[in-house]
Amino acid sequence: MNGNHAQLCPSPEWAAHIQDEVLPSLTQHADLGDDMLEIGPGPGAATERLRHEVKRLTVVEVDAAAAGKLASRYRDTNVEVVTGSAAELAAPDGSFDSVGSFTMLHHVPTLALQNQILAEVFRVLRPGGVLIGSDSLASNGLHHFHEGDTYNPIEPAGLLARLQTLGFEKITIVVDGILKFVAHKPAGQSSRGAESSGPS
Ligand SMILES: C[S@@+](CC[C@H](N)C(=O)[O-])C[C@H]1O[C@@H](n2cnc3c(N)ncnc32)[C@H](O)[C@@H]1O
Repeated sequence: MNGNHAQLCPSPEWAAHIQDEVLPSLTQHADLGDDMLEIGPGPGAATERLRHEVKRLTVVEVDAAAAGKLASRYRDTNVEVVTGSAAELAAPDGSFDSVGSFTMLHHVPTLALQNQILAEVFRVLRPGGVLIGSDSLASNGLHHFHEGDTYNPIEPAGLLARLQTLGFEKITIVVDGILKFVAHKPAGQSSRGAESSGPS
C-alpha cells in the first residue's frame, strides 16, 4: 500500500468508519454464524469488531508485514491470521459460515484475479453461508489517492452478474457513497452448479 493508505488505514477515524458505519449496515442483513473468514484485513479495522461477533475469525492477508502485525496483536485470541492470497485459500470447501471483504477488492490488480478470489470465497463458504463486502467507488480523487499503488475499482453494475455467474444468490448491492454487497451461497449446494436446474 502507498503512503496515503499507510496513514489512513490504521487511523482511529478509519476504524470508526468501518466499525460504526460500514459493518452495521452489512451485518444487519447477514447471519455471520460461528466461523468467519475476512480477506485483506490490512491493519485490522474490521477485524477488531468482527472478532466480537463470531466465535472464530480467520483472516487472510497477502502482505506479510501486515499479517505479522495482526498475528502479534491477536495472539491467544479467537483470531487466526494466515499469510497468503485470498485467490488461493488453503481452507477446505464449506469451511466458513460467512466471509467479509472490506475495501480490498480494488487492490487486486485484474478482473480475473478478483473473480478468482470471489470464486474461492464461494468455495469456502458453507451452503447457505454469506459474503458481506464493501469497497470504494471509482473517482478521480480515489485514483490520485492510489498513486503508485494498485487501483482497480469494482464496477457496481457488473458486480451482480459476476456474483451470479459464480453461483451466488439472494444478492444485494447498494451504492451510497461506497459500494456495499451481501450475497449468499445457495443452501444445499456444495460446489458451483452442483444442483443447477433449468433449461440446458
Ligand atoms: C486498502 S486495504 C483494506 C484493509 C481493511 N480491509 C480495511 O478496510 O481497512 C487492502 C488490503 O487487502 C490486502 N490484499 C490485497 N490483495 C490481497 C489478496 N489477494 N489476498 C489477501 N489480501 C489482499 C492488502 O495487502 C491490504 O492489506
